[in-house]
Amino acid sequence: MTVSTITKMTAPPSTAYKIVDVPEPYADVIKRHGIAGTFVSASEQESPWVPFGPNAAIRHLLFDTRHNIFSNILWMKSAGVIGTHKHRGTVVMICLEGSARYLEYDWVAGPGAFIYETPGLIHTLVSDEPNGVKLFGWLQGPLEFYDDNGNFVETVDVWWFINHYEAYCREHSIPINKQLYI
Ligand SMILES: [Fe+2]
Repeated sequence: MTVSTITKMTAPPSTAYKIVDVPEPYADVIKRHGIAGTFVSASEQESPWVPFGPNAAIRHLLFDTRHNIFSNILWMKSAGVIGTHKHRGTVVMICLEGSARYLEYDWVAGPGAFIYETPGLIHTLVSDEPNGVKLFGWLQGPLEFYDDNGNFVETVDVWWFINHYEAYCREHSIPINKQLYI
């Protein structure tokens, strides 16, 4: 492909509303070793809101134990604080509703805002919004939580998040949704 072709192409070429049979030389290898994608609908039947402290809840979406990745929606139900934490991995977040910010920074994330967090960051999440905030998160690696005096409290990682989800399901006789695990 020449440079001029690349610069002219503004979108993928096909607009056909059909399933296209695409050649795949390693189809048999993918069949043997590939991992299926997953889908979780917005229904609470598929993943309930699990309480996270008195004022927040987490809707778990994905657990990847190979890479210590976990994805969820964090819902702070009114103005409040999620305690000071240190990141040992990366986080991608999108604000879905409401607003949130970190005490350590000068920006406020509203609906559609994108947040990227990197290893070593230490910060305190707050929402000043009466209706709180919903944040979609894709998190890789552990986070460490600290108390008001900077004392280490707990590490949360993929195992913590799986236990958070499964303990709630067991307690409320909700079937474990296998679609959350890849
Ligand atoms: Fe964070």
